[in-house]
Amino acid sequence: MSRVLIKGARCYGEGDPVDVLIADGVIAEIGSPEAAGDTEVIDARGQVLLPGFVDLHTHLREPGREDTETVESGSAAAALGGYTAVFAMANTDPVADNAVVVEHVWRRGRETGLVDVHPVGAVTVGLAGERLAELGTMARSEAGVRIFSDDGHCVADPLLMRRALEYSTSLGVLVAQHAEEPRLTVGAQAHEGERAARFGYTGWPASAEESIVARDCILARHAGARLHVCHVSTTGTVDVLSWAKERGTRVSAEVTPHHLLLTDERLATYDPVNKVNPPLRADADVERMRQALADGVLDCVATDHAPHAVQDKDCEWAAARPGMLGLQTALSIVVRTMVEPGLLDWRGVARVMSERPAEIAGLPDQGRPLAEGEPANVVLVDPEAGWTVRGTELASIAANTPYEGMRLPAVVSATLLRGRITSREGKID
Ligand code: DOR
Repeated sequence: MSRVLIKGARCYGEGDPVDVLIADGVIAEIGSPEAAGDTEVIDARGQVLLPGFVDLHTHLREPGREDTETVESGSAAAALGGYTAVFAMANTDPVADNAVVVEHVWRRGRETGLVDVHPVGAVTVGLAGERLAELGTMARSEAGVRIFSDDGHCVADPLLMRRALEYSTSLGVLVAQHAEEPRLTVGAQAHEGERAARFGYTGWPASAEESIVARDCILARHAGARLHVCHVSTTGTVDVLSWAKERGTRVSAEVTPHHLLLTDERLATYDPVNKVNPPLRADADVERMRQALADGVLDCVATDHAPHAVQDKDCEWAAARPGMLGLQTALSIVVRTMVEPGLLDWRGVARVMSERPAEIAGLPDQGRPLAEGEPANVVLVDPEAGWTVRGTELASIAANTPYEGMRLPAVVSATLLRGRITSREGKID
């Protein structure tokens, strides 16, 4: 097995620079280890060493839409973004609602070997919201599915959601809800508010999200189950989560980088690159997302990386698909929105991008402390460097980034998966 010596990095951006020796897939020594014969040395002066990031929410589009992303291209984007594990959502074609599809995705992830790819299983057959999928078969399959979600669709039927939550407790898995009451979002195009009204979009009320989150917190508590809430976007949802957490409900929640940065001000452009589900919200919501992530009501950042083909984005707003790329820009957006304003330090970044998501998913070898003997799933970040986003230069097959041309802070300089360098200086190793 290869050995890597990281020289002069600051763990969690704290304390004095140290040298970190990685051997046989683990952190072998932190301090001043010597570089023996065939050790690869990384000059990491001025850089921050963090545990590798874990994304609970990504769309890899395989099988079915390999024209927009594959497990391989998405894994590359993940490794370049500092990720060592990702969860691939089930809304593929065919849907990942059975053992064959989840095992395919899992195997493709293993073959690619750049990041641990964990398939998410669908809660309902075909994401149709009518019948429960065979959660047990997927959980016990080779893929070992541990998160189930109909993401892209809400499990709107309360009885079905109740059954899924009850079933999840006996299987020891987690249900992740895309919270959107469909009766409240028929024809909805953009966050219901002053801007949508002014620019002529049909409104998407915050209550569509909040009412489902409130309902599901109550159902989860009743079932004694854990619940995970995908892509929280409104102030009211944060209020509901605070209430539920205070009374001991076992609920966790994620926020996307785009809901930490972008607002419905973007509606003025009419550019569907800004169309996303849930929609970009008002300024006060974005401010609340940042505060809630800082104080822990929101547990973690998840990208909702959603690649789409040019023809599905470069069209009129109503016909465009919702979603935006996120894997390679997530860290930079978290630095811009959370670190630069002083809401999180680097230890906080490790918490929301690595430790909490790994805990929520129950991954034993991810999000671990930077300590001797721990698995070497790590990322090196240059906090002083910056870069300019160019969609066509990202590793994803699709190029639908809302940050096109933006200068962003912080560069991922290397990612290591079990001690193997997967990305280095913007290139796949
Ligand atoms: O914007 C989104 N795009 N939100 C979702 O929930 C699904 C995703 C997709 O699959 O494109």
